[in-house]
Amino acid sequence: MRIVLGVGGGIAAYKVASLLRLFTEAGHDVTVVPTEASTRFIGTATWEALSGNPVSNSVFDDVHLVNHVRLGHEADLVVVAPATADLLAKAATGQAGDLLTNTLLMAHGPVLFAPAMHTEMWQHAATRANVETLRSRGAAVLEPASGRLTGADSGPGRLPEPQVIFDAAMALLQGQGDYQLPLAGRTVTISAGGTREPLDPVRFLGNRSSGKQGVALAVAARNAGASVRLLAAHMDVPPPAGVEVVRVETALELREAALHAAAVSDVVIMSAAVADFRPAEVSDTKIKKRDDTADPVITLVRNPDILQELVEQRTAGAAAAGQLIVGFAAETGDSQGDVLAYAEAKLQRKGCDLLVVNHVGTDKVFGQDSNSVVILSRSGSEPQEASGTKTEVSEAIIRRISFELNRVSL
Ligand code: C5P
Repeated sequence: MRIVLGVGGGIAAYKVASLLRLFTEAGHDVTVVPTEASTRFIGTATWEALSGNPVSNSVFDDVHLVNHVRLGHEADLVVVAPATADLLAKAATGQAGDLLTNTLLMAHGPVLFAPAMHTEMWQHAATRANVETLRSRGAAVLEPASGRLTGADSGPGRLPEPQVIFDAAMALLQGQGDYQLPLAGRTVTISAGGTREPLDPVRFLGNRSSGKQGVALAVAARNAGASVRLLAAHMDVPPPAGVEVVRVETALELREAALHAAAVSDVVIMSAAVADFRPAEVSDTKIKKRDDTADPVITLVRNPDILQELVEQRTAGAAAAGQLIVGFAAETGDSQGDVLAYAEAKLQRKGCDLLVVNHVGTDKVFGQDSNSVVILSRSGSEPQEASGTKTEVSEAIIRRISFELNRVSL
């Protein structure tokens, strides 16, 4: 999931490095937004190194990305730690003087404050009222821990332990608060990688698919709360943790696994590169190279189009429940038409609900870490573009799928 981690200007900021680690090790993509004051305690270089993402606290950096709007909109969760008395006051009164306060005003998902301050500040009527206001608007404000504070004083006001903040954040993400993960309770089947069509016990016809896109989709769907079944053909990358993996080799094996899984899935995403043809005959023994015989000729027969079959065999129950079937299309333009025109025709031919279109050349898409796609919809809505790393593209695709699913079930 995407987490924005706002860091306030208190000495407890140093403990937030451990919290950031907990988030990243759990597979979350974290953007740290420190306040100006907090950078006196921990510099932005530390946050950049630990999060792997650029860090800014100004609305005037990277203005073209419209960060003051985008960060809050795209975040699945905003966590503020330490939430100082000053930050709680700014959040409660809706101030927008820096990137973090802007992000808080734009947040679409849950917001979690982990306060840290001196006891008298925490107990002051102004802070009590601010906490009350934030809680009444649906924000989660943790109680600070009690104990030794920075000076000689002790009492309530210590930052809760990173593990406590992490657990509260995960509970919010898993919908134990009012907020539900977008794919909670949904089953998503994703095919990934390239099929291999055997010629004999040692040879096969294959393709360049690495499985990276399918695996990134599985991670994004898992992080969005779905129960994920990954139908894994040949892949160069390992399957992710927390998903059920069904290994397949050939198109026919994938077909059987996909039709079986589709019966119990809310979403089926066919991101695998399925061989369109297979050798008509598979030799039980290795085809020998002999000087006295003619060179072998391989006859190919068509594989079934699994995506099309999934659409044709969609049960009435699944259709009524709004099941979504999503295809991928790797297209090249030519003199007869551009990529989008071909893709549009494919969407109609295959009848799937969404078609994710890649523009391919030999150096593009296959095995690469980044991607650029257009999502076409049969419902006729505008084509949607998404580009970036395969992770970012996958998150955009999963967001779109969540949107379509939740719209249908309303
Ligand atoms: O027709 P084309 O191969 O371009 O279509 C690509 C889409 O169809 C992908 O979603 C792919 O997984 C799926 N496909 C399939 N069965 C095939 C060939 C492709 O399901 N035999």
